[in-house]
Amino acid sequence: MRHFSILEHLAGQLNPLCRVLSLDPAVPHDLLAGLLGPHGTRSLTDPPAWPSDVADDHSPVEFSVAFTDAEPPSLRILAEVPGATPGIEANTEAAYAFLAANATRFGLATARLDAVRDVFKTSHPAGGFALWCSLVFRHGREPEFKVYFNPEVAGVGRAPELVEEALGRLGLRDSYRTMLARSIRPGDLGRRDRLSFFALDLHDGPQARVKLYVSHHEADAADAARAAAVVPGVVPGEVAAFCRAAGGGGRFDRRPLVGSYTLVGGAGRPVGYSVYVPIRDYVDDDLEARDRVAAVVAQHGFSTALLHRCVAAVSRRPLGAGVGLIAHVSLRLGLPRPGVTVYLSAEAYEVTPPRSVWVPAA
Ligand code: TRP
Repeated sequence: MRHFSILEHLAGQLNPLCRVLSLDPAVPHDLLAGLLGPHGTRSLTDPPAWPSDVADDHSPVEFSVAFTDAEPPSLRILAEVPGATPGIEANTEAAYAFLAANATRFGLATARLDAVRDVFKTSHPAGGFALWCSLVFRHGREPEFKVYFNPEVAGVGRAPELVEEALGRLGLRDSYRTMLARSIRPGDLGRRDRLSFFALDLHDGPQARVKLYVSHHEADAADAARAAAVVPGVVPGEVAAFCRAAGGGGRFDRRPLVGSYTLVGGAGRPVGYSVYVPIRDYVDDDLEARDRVAAVVAQHGFSTALLHRCVAAVSRRPLGAGVGLIAHVSLRLGLPRPGVTVYLSAEAYEVTPPRSVWVPAA
């Protein structure tokens, strides 16, 4: 019997996702193949080329669908580009090569990337990754590219200093200091509150952003609400309500709640905020996750029918037969595009069994 390759598996999810979202799959498919490079033909019966943290089962890619008011939902792909002989440094080089190969065709703006990339370069990278890429496909537009640096790449303790250096070079130090002062629980920086991602848009539009992510371990909805309050226009109660609706109301004592801050020049403080609930740790199975996500999608005025079709495009099993297909759900507030995003795992290598299996009495 012939087994699927990783590219075939992922393309088999990407194509129906594009169909559901009325996107032409040609460019997304080309870029997906480019992300995987020569590893795309690797059989799924072999272990992943690299145990990426992009997804729980080490799939190199995670899909997400972003609902927003102003335009049809967009499709996003988060990926770790595996190097020829994968490793953190080889993957970073491969990511830069992928970007360079697409820079002209898609008009990538790399001035900000060039300004900070050496800040996050170290000879002995710590943690699970150094650089990830993501692609955003919007209706009727060229794809947008983003990169995610690991602020803890030189060790957890050095993350605040690396981020300060990078943001200083981009003229964003004031926003950063305001955010730190207001959004980190006292004494918890590098402990329960960790700087987890530093993201840059590779375009020059008015909506080009720098985003800083903070992971709040052992937090509750009220902690997220407090952390969000530094952003003008954000209603803290809305953040708390979302965390409770998506997370089930308890404390987030498994995977952390994550917040991200959108930084733009001249503002002095962040202008946008998103909260990411790692819903897969707080449900028994994906049926429960899907129902919770459908409730928040509906509550924010988006189409649950479209959500169900996106989930169906990616899933290869009954929703009750596993947990983690729906990995995160996020709420975006403020600039540039408020809305809800649903993160869908490829599950190319593994399905996490559901947490509670009902066994009938004998
Ligand atoms: N898989 C990792 C995690 O869950 C990284 C990741 C992928 C992530 N998509 C994400 C983190 C969305 C926050 C939000 O931490």
